[in-house]
Amino acid sequence: MTSKKIVAVVGATGAQGGSLARAIFRDRAGEYAVRALTRKVDSDKAQELKRAGAEVVAADLDDVESVKRAFAGAHAAFCVTNYWEYFSPEREFTHASNMAKAAKHAGVQHAIWSTLEDTRKWVPLSDNRMPTLMDKYKVPHFDAKGEANGVFAELGVPTTCLLTSFYWDNFVYFGVGPKKGADGKLALTLPMNNAKLPGIAAEDIGKCAYGILERGREFIGKTAGIAGEHLTGAEMAAAFTKALGQEVVYNAVPPEVYRSFGFPGADDLGNMFQFKRDFNEMYCKARSVEFSRSLNPSLLTFDAWLAEYKGRIPIS
Ligand SMILES: NC(=O)c1ccc[n+]([C@@H]2O[C@H](COP(=O)([O-])OP(=O)(O)OC[C@H]3O[C@@H](n4cnc5c(N)ncnc54)[C@H](OP(=O)(O)O)[C@@H]3O)[C@@H](O)[C@H]2O)c1
Repeated sequence: MTSKKIVAVVGATGAQGGSLARAIFRDRAGEYAVRALTRKVDSDKAQELKRAGAEVVAADLDDVESVKRAFAGAHAAFCVTNYWEYFSPEREFTHASNMAKAAKHAGVQHAIWSTLEDTRKWVPLSDNRMPTLMDKYKVPHFDAKGEANGVFAELGVPTTCLLTSFYWDNFVYFGVGPKKGADGKLALTLPMNNAKLPGIAAEDIGKCAYGILERGREFIGKTAGIAGEHLTGAEMAAAFTKALGQEVVYNAVPPEVYRSFGFPGADDLGNMFQFKRDFNEMYCKARSVEFSRSLNPSLLTFDAWLAEYKGRIPIS
Protein backbone atom coordinates (compact mmCIF):
# COMPACT_ATOMS: atom_id res chain seq x y z
CA MET A 1 0.00 0.00 0.00
CA THR A 2 1.51 3.31 -1.08
CA SER A 3 1.64 6.29 1.27
CA LYS A 4 1.69 8.52 -1.79
CA LYS A 5 -1.37 10.31 -3.15
CA ILE A 6 -2.96 8.24 -5.89
CA VAL A 7 -3.56 9.80 -9.28
CA ALA A 8 -6.06 7.72 -11.26
CA VAL A 9 -4.99 8.14 -14.87
CA VAL A 10 -7.48 7.41 -17.63
CA GLY A 11 -5.79 6.75 -20.97
CA ALA A 12 -2.54 5.79 -19.24
CA THR A 13 -1.73 3.43 -22.13
CA GLY A 14 -2.19 6.32 -24.58
CA ALA A 15 -0.49 9.60 -25.43
CA GLN A 16 -1.97 12.05 -22.92
CA GLY A 17 -2.44 9.81 -19.91
CA GLY A 18 0.83 8.01 -20.67
CA SER A 19 2.72 11.27 -20.63
CA LEU A 20 1.26 12.15 -17.23
CA ALA A 21 2.14 8.70 -15.88
CA ARG A 22 5.73 9.12 -17.10
CA ALA A 23 5.93 12.60 -15.54
CA ILE A 24 4.88 11.12 -12.20
CA PHE A 25 7.34 8.19 -12.50
CA ARG A 26 10.22 10.56 -13.31
CA ASP A 27 9.70 12.43 -10.04
CA ARG A 28 10.62 9.49 -7.83
CA ALA A 29 10.71 11.61 -4.69
CA GLY A 30 7.39 13.24 -5.58
CA GLU A 31 4.17 12.87 -3.62
CA TYR A 32 2.11 11.04 -6.27
CA ALA A 33 1.64 7.44 -7.37
CA VAL A 34 0.00 6.29 -10.62
CA ARG A 35 -3.11 4.17 -10.83
CA ALA A 36 -3.43 3.34 -14.53
CA LEU A 37 -6.92 2.64 -15.91
CA THR A 38 -7.17 0.40 -18.96
CA ARG A 39 -9.64 -1.98 -20.59
CA LYS A 40 -6.80 -4.42 -21.26
CA VAL A 41 -4.75 -5.04 -18.12
CA ASP A 42 -2.65 -7.67 -19.94
CA SER A 43 -1.61 -5.50 -22.89
CA ASP A 44 2.07 -4.74 -23.42
CA LYS A 45 1.52 -1.08 -22.56
CA ALA A 46 -0.35 -1.94 -19.35
CA GLN A 47 2.39 -4.34 -18.34
CA GLU A 48 5.03 -1.69 -19.08
CA LEU A 49 3.18 0.71 -16.77
CA LYS A 50 3.13 -1.95 -14.09
CA ARG A 51 6.90 -2.47 -14.41
CA ALA A 52 7.38 1.30 -14.11
CA GLY A 53 5.55 1.24 -10.78
CA ALA A 54 1.88 1.83 -11.63
CA GLU A 55 -1.03 0.06 -10.08
CA VAL A 56 -2.91 -1.18 -13.16
CA VAL A 57 -6.69 -1.52 -12.84
CA ALA A 58 -9.42 -2.55 -15.25
CA ALA A 59 -11.99 0.09 -16.16
CA ASP A 60 -14.12 0.86 -19.17
CA LEU A 61 -15.54 4.36 -19.70
CA ASP A 62 -18.73 2.73 -21.06
CA ASP A 63 -19.25 1.21 -17.61
CA VAL A 64 -19.60 3.92 -14.94
CA GLU A 65 -19.41 1.41 -12.07
CA SER A 66 -15.99 0.23 -13.24
CA VAL A 67 -14.77 3.85 -13.31
CA LYS A 68 -16.17 4.48 -9.81
CA ARG A 69 -14.23 1.45 -8.53
CA ALA A 70 -11.08 2.62 -10.28
CA PHE A 71 -11.33 6.17 -8.88
CA ALA A 72 -12.07 5.03 -5.29
CA GLY A 73 -9.46 6.31 -2.85
CA ALA A 74 -7.72 8.47 -5.45
CA HIS A 75 -6.57 11.97 -4.61
CA ALA A 76 -6.79 13.09 -8.24
CA ALA A 77 -8.07 11.83 -11.58
CA PHE A 78 -6.81 12.61 -15.07
CA CYS A 79 -9.77 12.34 -17.41
CA VAL A 80 -9.48 11.95 -21.18
CA THR A 81 -11.73 10.51 -23.88
CA ASN A 82 -10.71 8.96 -27.19
CA TYR A 83 -13.11 10.34 -29.81
CA TRP A 84 -11.16 8.88 -32.72
CA GLU A 85 -11.87 5.32 -31.63
CA TYR A 86 -15.64 5.64 -32.22
CA PHE A 87 -16.38 8.95 -33.99
CA SER A 88 -19.44 9.57 -31.78
CA PRO A 89 -19.82 12.84 -29.85
CA GLU A 90 -22.72 11.34 -27.90
CA ARG A 91 -20.57 8.44 -26.73
CA GLU A 92 -17.73 10.83 -25.91
CA PHE A 93 -20.14 12.92 -23.81
CA THR A 94 -21.26 9.77 -21.97
CA HIS A 95 -17.63 8.81 -21.30
CA ALA A 96 -16.86 12.27 -19.93
CA SER A 97 -20.03 12.25 -17.82
CA ASN A 98 -19.14 8.82 -16.44
CA MET A 99 -15.73 10.14 -15.34
CA ALA A 100 -17.35 13.20 -13.75
CA LYS A 101 -19.85 10.98 -11.90
CA ALA A 102 -17.08 8.62 -10.75
CA ALA A 103 -14.91 11.54 -9.60
CA LYS A 104 -17.85 12.89 -7.59
CA HIS A 105 -18.63 9.47 -6.15
CA ALA A 106 -15.00 8.89 -5.12
CA GLY A 107 -14.65 12.41 -3.72
CA VAL A 108 -11.45 13.09 -5.65
CA GLN A 109 -9.86 16.37 -4.65
CA HIS A 110 -8.77 17.30 -8.14
CA ALA A 111 -9.97 16.19 -11.58
CA ILE A 112 -8.04 17.32 -14.63
CA TRP A 113 -10.41 17.09 -17.58
CA SER A 114 -8.73 17.14 -20.98
CA THR A 115 -11.16 19.17 -23.01
CA LEU A 116 -11.56 21.43 -26.04
CA GLU A 117 -13.88 24.27 -26.97
CA ASP A 118 -17.57 23.74 -27.70
CA THR A 119 -17.22 25.57 -31.01
CA ARG A 120 -20.99 26.13 -31.23
CA LYS A 121 -20.56 29.01 -28.77
CA TRP A 122 -18.71 30.84 -31.55
CA VAL A 123 -20.30 29.20 -34.60
CA PRO A 124 -23.95 28.45 -33.83
CA LEU A 125 -25.57 25.75 -35.95
CA SER A 126 -27.34 28.51 -37.92
CA ASP A 127 -23.97 29.91 -39.06
CA ASN A 128 -23.38 28.55 -42.54
CA ARG A 129 -19.70 29.41 -42.80
CA MET A 130 -19.09 25.71 -42.13
CA PRO A 131 -21.45 22.74 -42.47
CA THR A 132 -23.31 21.32 -39.48
CA LEU A 133 -22.10 17.74 -38.95
CA MET A 134 -23.95 14.77 -37.41
CA ASP A 135 -27.08 16.97 -37.09
CA LYS A 136 -25.98 19.08 -34.14
CA TYR A 137 -22.26 19.75 -34.17
CA LYS A 138 -19.83 22.02 -35.95
CA VAL A 139 -16.62 20.31 -34.79
CA PRO A 140 -17.88 17.02 -33.35
CA HIS A 141 -14.62 16.01 -31.63
CA PHE A 142 -14.45 19.41 -29.92
CA ASP A 143 -18.08 20.17 -29.16
CA ALA A 144 -18.99 17.23 -26.94
CA LYS A 145 -15.82 17.72 -24.90
CA GLY A 146 -16.69 21.38 -24.33
CA GLU A 147 -20.29 20.49 -23.53
CA ALA A 148 -19.09 17.97 -20.94
CA ASN A 149 -17.25 20.71 -18.99
CA GLY A 150 -20.71 21.55 -17.66
CA VAL A 151 -21.20 18.07 -16.19
CA PHE A 152 -18.05 18.34 -14.07
CA ALA A 153 -19.22 21.80 -12.93
CA GLU A 154 -22.84 20.78 -12.22
CA LEU A 155 -21.71 17.83 -10.11
CA GLY A 156 -19.39 20.11 -8.14
CA VAL A 157 -16.27 18.12 -8.99
CA PRO A 158 -13.15 20.21 -8.21
CA THR A 159 -11.95 20.39 -11.79
CA THR A 160 -9.27 21.98 -13.93
CA CYS A 161 -10.35 22.09 -17.57
CA LEU A 162 -7.16 21.42 -19.54
CA LEU A 163 -7.40 22.89 -23.05
CA THR A 164 -4.93 20.96 -25.17
CA SER A 165 -3.48 21.81 -28.59
CA PHE A 166 -2.80 20.04 -31.90
CA TYR A 167 -0.15 17.40 -31.25
CA TRP A 168 2.89 17.73 -33.50
CA ASP A 169 2.97 13.93 -33.13
CA ASN A 170 0.08 13.95 -35.65
CA PHE A 171 2.83 14.44 -38.25
CA VAL A 172 4.15 11.00 -37.23
CA TYR A 173 0.96 9.04 -36.52
CA PHE A 174 -2.02 10.80 -38.10
CA GLY A 175 -0.85 11.13 -41.72
CA VAL A 176 -0.97 14.94 -41.83
CA GLY A 177 2.77 15.51 -42.39
CA PRO A 178 4.45 16.82 -45.55
CA LYS A 179 3.54 14.91 -48.72
CA LYS A 180 4.98 15.00 -52.24
CA GLY A 181 2.77 16.87 -54.69
CA ALA A 182 2.48 16.37 -58.46
CA ASP A 183 5.50 18.67 -58.86
CA GLY A 184 7.56 16.31 -56.67
CA LYS A 185 7.89 18.95 -53.95
CA LEU A 186 7.05 18.20 -50.34
CA ALA A 187 4.07 20.24 -49.16
CA LEU A 188 2.43 20.75 -45.80
CA THR A 189 -1.29 21.08 -46.48
CA LEU A 190 -3.46 22.97 -44.00
CA PRO A 191 -6.60 25.10 -44.39
CA MET A 192 -5.30 27.81 -42.08
CA ASN A 193 -4.25 30.60 -44.43
CA ASN A 194 -1.77 32.75 -42.48
CA ALA A 195 -3.29 32.02 -39.06
CA LYS A 196 -1.19 30.51 -36.29
CA LEU A 197 -1.74 26.94 -35.16
CA PRO A 198 -1.00 26.31 -31.47
CA GLY A 199 0.84 22.98 -31.32
CA ILE A 200 2.47 20.85 -28.66
CA ALA A 201 4.54 17.70 -28.22
CA ALA A 202 2.05 15.14 -26.88
CA GLU A 203 4.58 14.22 -24.18
CA ASP A 204 4.41 17.80 -22.88
CA ILE A 205 0.66 17.51 -22.18
CA GLY A 206 1.29 15.16 -19.26
CA LYS A 207 4.20 17.26 -18.04
CA CYS A 208 1.92 20.32 -17.96
CA ALA A 209 -0.83 18.32 -16.24
CA TYR A 210 1.76 17.30 -13.65
CA GLY A 211 2.65 20.97 -13.16
CA ILE A 212 -1.04 21.67 -12.53
CA LEU A 213 -1.23 18.89 -9.92
CA GLU A 214 1.90 20.19 -8.24
CA ARG A 215 0.39 23.62 -7.88
CA GLY A 216 -2.37 22.21 -5.68
CA ARG A 217 -5.72 23.94 -5.74
CA GLU A 218 -4.57 26.95 -7.78
CA PHE A 219 -6.32 25.88 -11.00
CA ILE A 220 -9.42 24.25 -9.57
CA GLY A 221 -12.48 25.79 -11.18
CA LYS A 222 -10.26 27.26 -13.89
CA THR A 223 -9.34 26.53 -17.47
CA ALA A 224 -5.67 25.97 -18.23
CA GLY A 225 -4.75 26.17 -21.92
CA ILE A 226 -1.42 24.78 -23.11
CA ALA A 227 0.75 24.94 -26.24
CA GLY A 228 4.45 24.57 -27.07
CA GLU A 229 4.41 27.20 -29.82
CA HIS A 230 1.96 29.05 -32.08
CA LEU A 231 3.12 28.77 -35.70
CA THR A 232 1.74 29.56 -39.14
CA GLY A 233 1.74 26.90 -41.85
CA ALA A 234 4.59 28.78 -43.54
CA GLU A 235 6.61 28.82 -40.31
CA MET A 236 6.06 25.08 -39.82
CA ALA A 237 7.03 24.39 -43.46
CA ALA A 238 10.25 26.41 -42.94
CA ALA A 239 11.02 24.40 -39.78
CA PHE A 240 10.41 21.13 -41.68
CA THR A 241 12.72 22.34 -44.48
CA LYS A 242 15.52 22.99 -41.99
CA ALA A 243 15.01 19.74 -40.06
CA LEU A 244 14.52 17.40 -43.03
CA GLY A 245 17.18 19.03 -45.22
CA GLN A 246 14.77 19.23 -48.15
CA GLU A 247 12.36 21.93 -49.16
CA VAL A 248 8.84 21.77 -47.73
CA VAL A 249 6.34 24.33 -49.00
CA TYR A 250 3.14 25.43 -47.31
CA ASN A 251 0.06 24.51 -49.31
CA ALA A 252 -2.78 26.62 -47.91
CA VAL A 253 -6.09 25.20 -49.11
CA PRO A 254 -9.60 26.46 -48.36
CA PRO A 255 -11.42 24.55 -45.59
CA GLU A 256 -14.00 23.24 -48.08
CA VAL A 257 -11.21 21.58 -50.04
CA TYR A 258 -9.79 20.04 -46.86
CA ARG A 259 -13.27 18.78 -45.89
CA SER A 260 -13.52 16.99 -49.23
CA PHE A 261 -10.28 15.00 -48.82
CA GLY A 262 -12.33 11.92 -47.99
CA PHE A 263 -10.36 10.35 -45.14
CA PRO A 264 -12.42 9.50 -42.03
CA GLY A 265 -13.01 12.71 -40.08
CA ALA A 266 -11.87 15.06 -42.90
CA ASP A 267 -15.04 17.15 -42.57
CA ASP A 268 -14.61 17.38 -38.78
CA LEU A 269 -10.94 18.40 -39.14
CA GLY A 270 -11.74 20.86 -41.96
CA ASN A 271 -14.24 22.56 -39.65
CA MET A 272 -11.75 22.40 -36.78
CA PHE A 273 -8.99 24.15 -38.73
CA GLN A 274 -11.48 26.72 -39.99
CA PHE A 275 -12.57 27.41 -36.41
CA LYS A 276 -8.93 27.86 -35.38
CA ARG A 277 -8.38 30.16 -38.37
CA ASP A 278 -11.53 32.26 -38.02
CA PHE A 279 -11.23 32.73 -34.24
CA ASN A 280 -7.45 32.74 -34.20
CA GLU A 281 -6.84 35.47 -31.66
CA MET A 282 -9.18 33.97 -29.08
CA TYR A 283 -7.97 30.42 -29.79
CA CYS A 284 -4.28 31.29 -29.41
CA LYS A 285 -4.86 33.51 -26.38
CA ALA A 286 -6.49 30.58 -24.58
CA ARG A 287 -3.20 28.61 -24.93
CA SER A 288 -0.32 30.68 -23.61
CA VAL A 289 3.15 29.29 -24.30
CA GLU A 290 4.63 31.23 -21.37
CA PHE A 291 2.02 29.79 -19.01
CA SER A 292 2.69 26.28 -20.34
CA ARG A 293 6.44 26.72 -19.77
CA SER A 294 5.75 27.87 -16.20
CA LEU A 295 4.03 24.50 -15.62
CA ASN A 296 6.64 22.54 -17.54
CA PRO A 297 10.06 24.19 -17.91
CA SER A 298 11.23 21.53 -20.41
CA LEU A 299 8.39 22.39 -22.86
CA LEU A 300 9.57 21.66 -26.42
CA THR A 301 9.53 24.17 -29.26
CA PHE A 302 8.62 22.84 -32.71
CA ASP A 303 12.30 22.87 -33.74
CA ALA A 304 13.22 20.84 -30.66
CA TRP A 305 10.34 18.41 -31.30
CA LEU A 306 11.46 18.00 -34.92
CA ALA A 307 15.05 17.33 -33.86
CA GLU A 308 13.77 14.44 -31.75
CA TYR A 309 11.07 13.03 -34.06
CA LYS A 310 12.05 13.91 -37.65
CA GLY A 311 13.32 10.39 -38.35
CA ARG A 312 9.88 8.97 -37.61
CA ILE A 313 7.85 11.25 -39.88
CA PRO A 314 6.60 9.25 -42.87
CA ILE A 315 7.48 11.25 -45.97
CA SER A 316 5.73 10.14 -49.15
N1 LIG B 1 -4.29 14.40 -31.89
C1 LIG B 1 -4.38 15.66 -31.48
O1 LIG B 1 -3.77 16.58 -32.03
C2 LIG B 1 -5.25 16.00 -30.31
C3 LIG B 1 -5.19 17.29 -29.78
C4 LIG B 1 -5.99 17.62 -28.69
C5 LIG B 1 -6.86 16.66 -28.17
N2 LIG B 1 -6.90 15.41 -28.73
C6 LIG B 1 -7.84 14.43 -28.15
O2 LIG B 1 -7.11 13.45 -27.47
C7 LIG B 1 -7.97 12.33 -27.27
C8 LIG B 1 -7.18 11.06 -27.38
O3 LIG B 1 -6.17 11.06 -26.41
P1 LIG B 1 -4.79 10.30 -26.69
O4 LIG B 1 -4.17 10.92 -27.90
O5 LIG B 1 -4.04 10.26 -25.43
O6 LIG B 1 -5.32 8.84 -27.11
P2 LIG B 1 -4.56 7.53 -27.53
O7 LIG B 1 -3.07 7.70 -27.47
O8 LIG B 1 -5.15 7.07 -28.82
O9 LIG B 1 -4.99 6.51 -26.40
C9 LIG B 1 -6.35 6.29 -26.10
C10 LIG B 1 -6.45 5.93 -24.64
O10 LIG B 1 -7.82 5.94 -24.24
C11 LIG B 1 -8.09 4.76 -23.53
N3 LIG B 1 -9.50 4.43 -23.77
C12 LIG B 1 -10.18 4.55 -24.94
N4 LIG B 1 -11.45 4.14 -24.77
C13 LIG B 1 -11.58 3.76 -23.49
C14 LIG B 1 -12.64 3.21 -22.73
N5 LIG B 1 -13.86 2.97 -23.27
N6 LIG B 1 -12.43 2.94 -21.44
C15 LIG B 1 -11.21 3.15 -20.87
N7 LIG B 1 -10.16 3.66 -21.54
C16 LIG B 1 -10.34 3.94 -22.83
C17 LIG B 1 -7.16 3.71 -24.08
O11 LIG B 1 -6.93 2.74 -23.09
P3 LIG B 1 -6.94 1.13 -23.34
O12 LIG B 1 -6.96 0.90 -24.82
O13 LIG B 1 -5.67 0.64 -22.67
O14 LIG B 1 -8.17 0.65 -22.64
C18 LIG B 1 -5.90 4.54 -24.35
O15 LIG B 1 -5.10 4.63 -23.21
C19 LIG B 1 -9.06 12.44 -28.34
O16 LIG B 1 -10.33 12.62 -27.73
C20 LIG B 1 -8.65 13.67 -29.16
O17 LIG B 1 -9.75 14.40 -29.64
C21 LIG B 1 -6.10 15.06 -29.75
